[in-house]
Amino acid sequence: MKNEMEIKEQICEIGKRMYNRGMVAANDGNISVKLNDNTFLCTPTGVSKGFMTPESICKVDENGNVIQANHGFRPSSEIKMHMRVYQKRPDVGAVVHAHPVYATTFAVAGIPLTRPVLSEAVMSLGCVPIAEYGTPSTMEIPDRLEKYLPYYDAVLLESHGALTWSTDLLAAYHKMESVEFYAEILYRSRMLGGPREFDREEIKKLYEVRRKSGMPGRHPATICLSREDGNDPGCADYRNFPGYEYDFVGDGCD
Ligand code: 13P
Repeated sequence: MKNEMEIKEQICEIGKRMYNRGMVAANDGNISVKLNDNTFLCTPTGVSKGFMTPESICKVDENGNVIQANHGFRPSSEIKMHMRVYQKRPDVGAVVHAHPVYATTFAVAGIPLTRPVLSEAVMSLGCVPIAEYGTPSTMEIPDRLEKYLPYYDAVLLESHGALTWSTDLLAAYHKMESVEFYAEILYRSRMLGGPREFDREEIKKLYEVRRKSGMPGRHPATICLSREDGNDPGCADYRNFPGYEYDFVGDGCD
């Protein structure tokens, strides 16, 4: 288990990786980590994620109010968005927001990542819906994001960027890498005449692998369609692709 300083150092390290991979321009993006139900660390507002030091990391409570921040630093302007994820998903330990080029291109075009074309993406993400546009730093973003939170671990933010979350920071960051890789492959394969989509049997097998892997988080393969959680609001066209109706038993139906 990492201590607080080690988590601050990890936030800086992940910030550098995001910046060096071109997932955030200038001062874009933000990161938060849950320490306990009432205490969270988050990146400072208006600072490049490529050049953060542990001293710049702020501490906030469950409402996003400052508990501790060094002189010259304030919490991210998007802290309300992060807090909504923690409120609705007690299983989440870290949230990452970035503007990776391909994922943001889909977000700007209003196209969700729903096509079953890449085995790893089908298993790890299922699909990535788009949360309707909200003005950054206002309650519009958390309010529009909320309905996707019970069903997914990644969303595109319309005309803005992407948001991922998971049990810990490395996993949440890896999710962001996976979203961007999926978006890039989907985009590039269209230049070669379009991707081949998996058929229902292939999808069924990928979902089975997902269920057996015990991977944490939420995914269409573990949504129980016969229950309330069958009201998944995202990925409407994903529901229509062959195989979606198959075998929605697993964690979600236990
Ligand atoms: P902050 O610097 O306030 O975290 O905002 C960056 C950003 O990407 C807003 O969407």
